[in-house]
Amino acid sequence: MSSDDMKKRAAEAALGYVEDDIIIGVGTGSTVNYFIDALSRIKHRIEGAVPSSEATAQRLRACKIPVLDLNAAGPLPLYVDGADEINCYLQMIKGGGGALTREKIVAAASERFVCIADQSKLVDVLGVFPLPIEVIPMARSYVGRELLKRGGQPVLRDNFITDNGNLILDVYNLVIMEPLKLEAELNNIAGVVTVGLFAQRPADVLLLGTVDGIRTIQG
Ligand code: 5RP
Repeated sequence: MSSDDMKKRAAEAALGYVEDDIIIGVGTGSTVNYFIDALSRIKHRIEGAVPSSEATAQRLRACKIPVLDLNAAGPLPLYVDGADEINCYLQMIKGGGGALTREKIVAAASERFVCIADQSKLVDVLGVFPLPIEVIPMARSYVGRELLKRGGQPVLRDNFITDNGNLILDVYNLVIMEPLKLEAELNNIAGVVTVGLFAQRPADVLLLGTVDGIRTIQG
């Protein structure tokens, strides 16, 4: 079974968390794209969706799912999104697709965060996947030096501008033993917009697509 099949499995399982007449927060990425496809089959049951990126907004519109603004929608009962890495505490590295800032905002505004992923995303220790950090363009070099001091190897993501007009530094070589502490520390560097560590607001449920079916881990 391919990783795409496992992603699809996880995406389909997330439909079980969609209650009638709700507004859903929808993340970004290939796993979420499968979720949007599945959601389009039951779109008559929901009020609409708040996207975490322009790419997701486009895909929702293509599926004729109403796209709503977070400010107008208010608190959301459910957020569904993928992850680049996730540990058994449901803390994550996110931002492989560069949508980390809006993902963090929509996750924070949601009551329940359901993470959907294929089995390769579950890890013991976060940090093999390079940690994405969104930075204000003028702070790129300064933030890079601060990351070097902390043992990371920042690499500017090539030809990439976020939906917010900023840059992404992908930070290699971090062994993240204390995700909460590192998230807070990196958030404090001037010029950092968002750190792709989701430890302060982890997922509440992980639906992991595996070769044997769905494995559900509760936070
Ligand atoms: C985008 C993300 C995605 O959730 C993450 O990259 C996972 O993507 P995929 O489902 O394609 O593996 O954080 O910013």
